[in-house]
Amino acid sequence: ASAQIGVTGLAVMGRNLARNFARHGYTVALHNRTAAKTRALVEEFGDEGSFVPTESAEEFVAALERPRRLVVMVKAGEATDAVIDEFAPLLEEGDMIVDGGNAHFADTRRRERKLRERGIHFVGTGISGGEEGALNGPSIMPGGSKESYKALGPMLEKIAAKAEDGAPCVTHIGPDGAGHFVKMVHNGIEYADMQLIGEAYQLLRDVAGYSPARIADVFRTWNTGRLDSYLIEITAEVLKHSDPKTGKPFVDVVADAAEQKGTGRWTVQIALDLGVPVSGIAEAVFARSLSGHTALREASGHLSGPTPKPLEEAEAARFADQVEQALYASKIVSYTQGFHEIAAGSAEYGWDIDLGAVASIWRAGCIIRAAFLDRITAAYARQPELPSLLSDPRFASEVEGAQGDWRDVIGTAVRQGVATPGFSTALAYYDALRAPRLPAALTQAQRDYFGAHTYQRVDRDGTFHTLWGGDRSEVES
Ligand code: 6PG
Repeated sequence: ASAQIGVTGLAVMGRNLARNFARHGYTVALHNRTAAKTRALVEEFGDEGSFVPTESAEEFVAALERPRRLVVMVKAGEATDAVIDEFAPLLEEGDMIVDGGNAHFADTRRRERKLRERGIHFVGTGISGGEEGALNGPSIMPGGSKESYKALGPMLEKIAAKAEDGAPCVTHIGPDGAGHFVKMVHNGIEYADMQLIGEAYQLLRDVAGYSPARIADVFRTWNTGRLDSYLIEITAEVLKHSDPKTGKPFVDVVADAAEQKGTGRWTVQIALDLGVPVSGIAEAVFARSLSGHTALREASGHLSGPTPKPLEEAEAARFADQVEQALYASKIVSYTQGFHEIAAGSAEYGWDIDLGAVASIWRAGCIIRAAFLDRITAAYARQPELPSLLSDPRFASEVEGAQGDWRDVIGTAVRQGVATPGFSTALAYYDALRAPRLPAALTQAQRDYFGAHTYQRVDRDGTFHTLWGGDRSEVES
C-alpha cells in the first residue's frame, strides 16, 4: 500500500479533487465504476503527481495506507449508499470514508451511526467551489469525529483554498452531519445571494433602463466595494457575454426557468422544522420554482399592472446607487438568517458549531466567497456569542445607513411592477425584528377564539383563555 488517500468517483469534481491532492505531493489511489475514466485521468494528468490507478474495490482498498482515507465523490443519494455497501466490508477499524457530495445531513447522520458501530469513521464533508475550486482550492466543511479530523485535517488544509491572511478554508465543523448541514446552509445562502443579484439586475434593466453590458459595468464597480464577491464578479462576466449565434446579450437567449438540485430547498425545509425564519432563502427557492411554472406564467401573462418606465440618465445613475444599498442590506439579512439556522441546527443536534470559524472558512474557495465574509468573521471575533449578525453594531449601522435607499428601491419596484421578493422579505424581516409590538398578539387572540388555544398576557404570568362563546370572562388554564 502506497497511497495516502484514495478517490472513488472520478466525474469532474472527484477528478479535480484527486488532482489537487496529487499536486500537493500525496500519492492518490484512483477508482471509478467504469475503469475508462480512471485510465483517462492518468493519461491526461498523470504527470501532475503520483497516482495509483485501480480497477476493483479490492485493489483500491489494498492501495491505501492505514488508516485508510477513502474519498467518495459520487452523486448524493443512493449512489453513496451503494459505494458504502461496496467498500465498508473491505475496511478495517480506524479507516475513514469521506463523503464529499452534497448529501442531506440526515443521511450523513444515519451513515455515520451505522459505520461507527463497525469502527469506521464516516466523514460527511461539504466541499464548495465547483470544478475550479476542487482543483485549485475549495472551501471544505468536514463533519465526523474529532479523531478522523486529526488524520484528515492536515491533508485537507493543504488542498483547501487560503484566505487572504493565509488561513486554510477548512475547519472541523462538528460531529456526524454537521459538515453537510453547514454546506446545505451555504447553498441556501448561495440561492439567496443569487436571487438578490437577480433582482438588482432586473431593476437596473427595467427601471434604470440599462443594457446588460452597462449593468455588467455597474456590477464591476460594485465588485470593487463592499459587495466584492465571486458571485458579483461572475454576474458581470455573464452580463458582458454575447451569444455567438445571434449576437444578442447571452442573458436574453437563456430560458428564464431556474432549476435546482435540492440543497436550497432542504435549507428551507429544515428551517421550517427548526422554527427558524429564513425568509430570504425561502423566497429564493420559491422564485426559482415560480420561474419554472411555464404554463402558469403563460396563463397569467394578460394580468394587468404597471409596465416599468425607464428613468432619465441622471436619475438612473442615482437609482443604481440605491439598488447597491438595497442589495447590501438584503444580503446582511440573508446571512443573518443563514447563521441563525446554523446556530439552531447546532443546538438541536449538539454540534457545538463555531459560527465565526464557519464564516472564516467561507472567505475563500466557496461559491459565496466575498469580502463580506471577512467582516462576518471579524464580527464573531469581536463577540463570539453574537446572538445575531444584526446585533453586531457595525452591521446594524450599515443597515441603518442603507435603509432609506432600501425602502425607496422597494417602493419603486412595487410602483413599477417589478417583483423583488428577496429585497422585500429582507426588509420585512428587519422591520418585524425591530417592531415593539407584532400582530402575533392578534393571532394568539384569534387562536384562542376559535380553538381555545390559550394565550399569555403581557402583565401577568400564567396561561389564559377567554370564554368567547359565553360571558367573555377570562379564566386561567
Ligand atoms: C458549491 C455549489 C455546488 C453546486 C450547487 C448548485 O458550493 O460548489 O453550491 O454545490 O453548484 O449545489 O445547486 P443547484 O443546482 O441547486 O442550483
